[in-house]
Amino acid sequence: MSTRRGFIARMAAAAAVARILPEAAYAQRAAVKGAALAKDMVWLNANENPAGPPRCSLDAMTAVLPSSGRYHYNEFADIYTVMATAEGLAPEQIVAGAGSSEVLHTAVELFTSATKPFITVNPAYEGPRDVARNLGRPVILTKLREDYTADVRKMAEEADRAHGGLIYLCNPNNPTSAVTSAQDVDWLVANLPANTTLLVDEAYIHFVERPDVKSALPYVKQGKNVIVARTFSKIYGMAGLRVGFAAARADLIEQMTRMSLNVISIVSARAVVAALNEREPILRERKASMSKTRGEMTAWLRERKVKFIEPNANFMMIDVGRDSRHFITTMPTLGVAPGRPFPPLDNMLRVSIGTDAEMARFREVFWKVYKG
Ligand SMILES: Cc1ncc(COP(=O)(O)O)c(C=O)c1O
Repeated sequence: MSTRRGFIARMAAAAAVARILPEAAYAQRAAVKGAALAKDMVWLNANENPAGPPRCSLDAMTAVLPSSGRYHYNEFADIYTVMATAEGLAPEQIVAGAGSSEVLHTAVELFTSATKPFITVNPAYEGPRDVARNLGRPVILTKLREDYTADVRKMAEEADRAHGGLIYLCNPNNPTSAVTSAQDVDWLVANLPANTTLLVDEAYIHFVERPDVKSALPYVKQGKNVIVARTFSKIYGMAGLRVGFAAARADLIEQMTRMSLNVISIVSARAVVAALNEREPILRERKASMSKTRGEMTAWLRERKVKFIEPNANFMMIDVGRDSRHFITTMPTLGVAPGRPFPPLDNMLRVSIGTDAEMARFREVFWKVYKG
């Protein structure tokens, strides 16, 4: 029998665990317990950008610190306008949050229900899936195709069967670093079943070099049932500053805004505005620098005939040919922390692309463990 007290206890338990965990929190949870972690540990476990915030953002944050005793509420309309117009959107087409984690959480909470499932591929970034599970929403995980890409037709079929739901497409996908082509996203948008919303997580889209992959923002501008999540944690190097946003049709954003926790920190906001004012050279240089370092990694692996999934973001999946948990627990004891396990890809090791020096250290430690 369902009692009121039981109901309250269940709600409290759900509230306690429902919040989305950003990548860093998942990484920390997976960190080897008990092992004495080296002070100079090379952290390649959370897909962060070793470059950190750009110089202009550091200066903007320093400048605002003395006045951070004030709320600065009157500035936020302008700040959000800068964020929206940088992507050719109107201010009413975005909602900002504490990282993209917050807006992903909101989208899952709003656009799934007891009868509208959360649908994604397995594995994908766990955050939104875990929110759905913790809220008691049905979760449907579809299989990746042979080439590790998302099967958009399968996801649409599942949404159709359930008479609606939320399809979560991470592009590029974390942890595989594989992409969904513009052709496939086009097909999915054109064939979205009734009562279905498509949530495209573009946390790593700025790193993509393939011409057949495009952002889904044009669908937002066309008024489709599409939400795009973006973050300043990755290419902009601001993971600790906690800024992200969702872009969608104004009516969807209105619903999401009602659930938003608060404005973002003024210090983070100033960092974002400064970076957006100089975004072209910032994005170009960071993408090129990451691509060079990643290219050296892939060349090194190819020379040694170690297989990997062709990467499209600032991390990659290496096929270690046996259960990767051995690498995940052993490598940190040698000073390098790789990513966590991502079942069912049990033989794959996810590694974030760090600085050249960090990747040199990764290669040294990886090879030691690989050779046994
Ligand atoms: C695909 C993806 N989406 C969202 C996030 C959440 O990041 P944040 O809350 O820092 O924007 C992450 C974190 O790594 C991620 O990998």
